[in-house]
Amino acid sequence: MDYKNYIAEKIKIDGVSREEIYSSVALPPNSEMGDYALPCFKFAKVLRKSPAVIAEELKSGFATDGVISEVSAVNGYLNFKVNKAELAKQVLGEIFKKGDKYGSSECGKGKTVCIDYSSVNIAKPFHIGHLSTTVLGGALYKLFGFLGYNVVGINHLGDYGTQFGKLICAYKHWGNREEVEKGGIHAINDLYVRFNNQADEQMEAEAREYFRLIESGDKEANEIFEWFKSLTLKYVQEIYDKLGVKFDSYAGERFYTDKMQPVIDELKSKNLLKESEGAQIVDLEAYSMPPCLILRSDGASLYATRDLAAAIYRKNTYNFDKCLYVVAYQQNLHFKQVFKVLELMGKEWAKDLVHVAYGMVSLEDGAMSTRKGKVVWLEDVINKCVEKAYAVVTEKNPDLENKREIAEKVGLGAVIFGALYNNKIKDIVFSYDKVLSFEGETSVYVQYTCARANSVLSKAGNSGCVVEGYEPNALEFEVVKQLASFPDTLKEAADKYEPCYIARFAVDLAQKFNKFYIDCKILNAEGDTKQFRLALTKAVLQTLKNALAILGIGVPDKM
Ligand code: ARG
Repeated sequence: MDYKNYIAEKIKIDGVSREEIYSSVALPPNSEMGDYALPCFKFAKVLRKSPAVIAEELKSGFATDGVISEVSAVNGYLNFKVNKAELAKQVLGEIFKKGDKYGSSECGKGKTVCIDYSSVNIAKPFHIGHLSTTVLGGALYKLFGFLGYNVVGINHLGDYGTQFGKLICAYKHWGNREEVEKGGIHAINDLYVRFNNQADEQMEAEAREYFRLIESGDKEANEIFEWFKSLTLKYVQEIYDKLGVKFDSYAGERFYTDKMQPVIDELKSKNLLKESEGAQIVDLEAYSMPPCLILRSDGASLYATRDLAAAIYRKNTYNFDKCLYVVAYQQNLHFKQVFKVLELMGKEWAKDLVHVAYGMVSLEDGAMSTRKGKVVWLEDVINKCVEKAYAVVTEKNPDLENKREIAEKVGLGAVIFGALYNNKIKDIVFSYDKVLSFEGETSVYVQYTCARANSVLSKAGNSGCVVEGYEPNALEFEVVKQLASFPDTLKEAADKYEPCYIARFAVDLAQKFNKFYIDCKILNAEGDTKQFRLALTKAVLQTLKNALAILGIGVPDKM
């Protein structure tokens, strides 16, 4: 049961919407005060009364019942105590009823969210910088789906640009088919690096010609390009499979080749295009931004031109309610410009475009830097994490069967969780030891808690059921309340585009469960107490699994 909803239904304040009341109901920091609280400060202005008076008045108008057993007004807060037995019964009942759907909802029904994420550049292997967009986007994709939205995952391929002319030129000079076929994307990348180090005037000219050939539809040039593209997609697919992410569309920059002219025409007809040093721009000085470049002086389109065409195409094709761009904060200006230009074009839906920006990931041994040649490939990080997980798991429990399989879940989980645990905008330093620690705020800790719960349950022959009228003790009740807050946590995570709320929820729940586990006997308890504790354990396991699944992390039965 949604207690916030229950409270919001029962409280009426003139001039304040139910939604506002709903979103104001919070968990008080100190559970002595109450189980839920409504801070009344926000309403002081509308009601022209002090928060303390408002709280008092609301209190006297509130009838307690079987669900809310006590209300008090303290320092401008209205505090609620819930009927513990009732809450426990409702929450556990709900979890058992919904199972792996617990936390899901229909709140997104009929709405569409496009999520542009991971967007690979053809011929460039993933480095650790691509981790965040891939796992953040992947988590948002699953989260919105879980909340009933229609979700469109888009991989806006970086498949357009003069670099592909260079690549073909390098291949023609130094490459050979078997080697590239065998070496895959890294062989292609090596060719590109070599071109940048060694190409002379002559080769630069050839590269421009190859680019022109791709553009003009030349068969051979396009075949080579498509081959590079398929090698790239094969390479990323392996990583996507491991991280559990998927896409509904791979319409990349090249896809918009024939869709840019109409945008340019529209800009022109709306008097938004200006010439500047031979180039075509949209002047954004009035908005304190540098101009958005639409066409270079040689007539070539730009990254922004293709993003304009892409946004319009997506609106026409999917009629989204929101379109998210999960892209590093380095592109803040780019998206501000693109969104502003669309707004100036009169697209009222420009307000529904959201740049979901995130920070940088570096490794402990020094920042990832392409220029210094110190690139850390993502697959190496993943493999190393799985290897280390194998060692960690083996050390903890040498007799485990299926150690490889378990290490895979633990290692991949650690990579994902490591990238998702902090607010997305923060720069993070990735540490293998930290993300693979059994203690602390890690997926390993959460997975281990699941294994612990599993082991208790299998020893009890999977019994345990909802017990009518059972009054939970303080530690049990902390767990119950945390379980009850899961659906709300998911909605907040979606509202703020912050999968880290889910990661933190999982760690909190695991911590609360472990306190309960250490302090309260489960298997040696008796009667109703035992039944309730087993049921609680089952509910925790289910909820942790659901939370981790949204992040793309699997849970081994044993660890
Ligand atoms: N491929 C681009 C890059 O690596 C990211 C593309 C993001 N999506 C977009 N619609 N611009 O920087």
